[in-house]
Formats: sequence, structure tokens, C-alpha cells
Amino acid sequence: MHIIIFNTKGGVGKSTLCEYSSRQLQRLGYAVSVSNTDQQQHVNNIKNDGAQYHLYDTAGAFTEQNVKLLKAARNVDAKIIIPVCTGKNDAYEVDFVLEQLQAYGVKDKAWFVLSKTRANCLSTKLRRIELLGTGVPVAKWTLPLLEDFSEQRDTLRTCAEMNKFLNELVLL
Ligand SMILES: Nc1ncnc2c1ncn2[C@@H]1O[C@H](COP(=O)(O)OP(=O)(O)O)[C@@H](O)[C@H]1O
Ligand SMILES: [Mg+2]
Repeated sequence: MHIIIFNTKGGVGKSTLCEYSSRQLQRLGYAVSVSNTDQQQHVNNIKNDGAQYHLYDTAGAFTEQNVKLLKAARNVDAKIIIPVCTGKNDAYEVDFVLEQLQAYGVKDKAWFVLSKTRANCLSTKLRRIELLGTGVPVAKWTLPLLEDFSEQRDTLRTCAEMNKFLNELVLL
């Protein structure tokens, strides 16, 4: 299965989600590959043609490589995970992201994940309602705002959060 973590907005937690979920999948014993279309290369690439899960971290911009990846997703078992934060600008970007998914025929493979926020705060609840209005499903799980994530520390808490993410969206 191919898991593409995509949002043309930067700073929404794409690389963090990619890195932590790849580590957790490996801890659980799965074979994983990781590719990165981001020139800044924040994520460690792992080459593994026989991987059960192929993860893709993408550049927070509208690049040729991102287009290639979206087009390729069309004909394979793929999920496009779109982390979205609760800010105003994050909402504007969602419309643009959806236009692209529509243009490349992969909107039905998309899932929103609320990112870098608290699951039960008002701004999260309001953003969830907005996102649901687009017709794209929104994960129940939210990537919580946690120092352990920003400091790249694997802790019981980050592992538990990744398990929740993987169980809801990846390990089916
Ligand atoms: N859940 C989180 N809690 C706290 N900080 C986070 C979280 N996710 C990401 N960050 C921090 O936010 C910044 C942007 O995250 P990053 O994963 O690089 O986003 P993107 O790849 O979308 O640009 C980084 O400094 C990262 O450490
Ligand atoms: Mg990144």
C-alpha cells in the first residue's frame, strides 16, 4: 500500500507524520520504504522495493514531482493523507489541495487528518465540520501538538499516537 502525505502548505506536520509512522510501522515488524519529494530532505529515505507500506513525504509546494506522485496514485492501492492545522490560512490551502486531487482523479483516495492541535478544542471541532463539508473523510484521530513530536523523541506517548493513526488509516 502507498501512503502519500500531502498538503501544499508547509509546517502542517507532513514530515513528522511520515517519519514517526515509518518508525512505528518498522517497530511493529512491517517492511517499509520512505521516499521524499521535498528538496529540503527532512525525512530519512528508505529504499525497499519489497515493502508492504510505501510512505511518501511531499514538498509543501505545488511541484512537478508532487504532480507525478498524485498521477501515479491513481492506479495503485494508495491513500493520500492530508494533514490540516486549524489556522485561517490552512483553510484557504484546503481548497487548492482539493482542486488538485480532483484534477488528477485521486480525490476518492484522500483523508484529512487534523494536525498539531488538541482533539477536543473548539477550533479543531470547527475545522472538522468544515472539512467534512468537502466530502472527503476526516480521520477520528488527531495528530496532537506535543513537544515529543517537535523534538523528534520517540516516547510511549508518540508511539501510542502513531499506533492510533496506523490502526485507523493504514493497517487495514
Ligand atoms: N504534533 C506536533 N506537535 C508539535 N510540533 C510539531 C508536531 N508536528 C510537527 N511539529 C513541528 O512543526 C514543524 C513543522 O513540522 P513538519 O513535520 O516539518 O511539517 P511539514 O513537513 O508539513 O512542513 C516542525 O518544527 C515540527 O517539529
Ligand atoms: Mg516537510
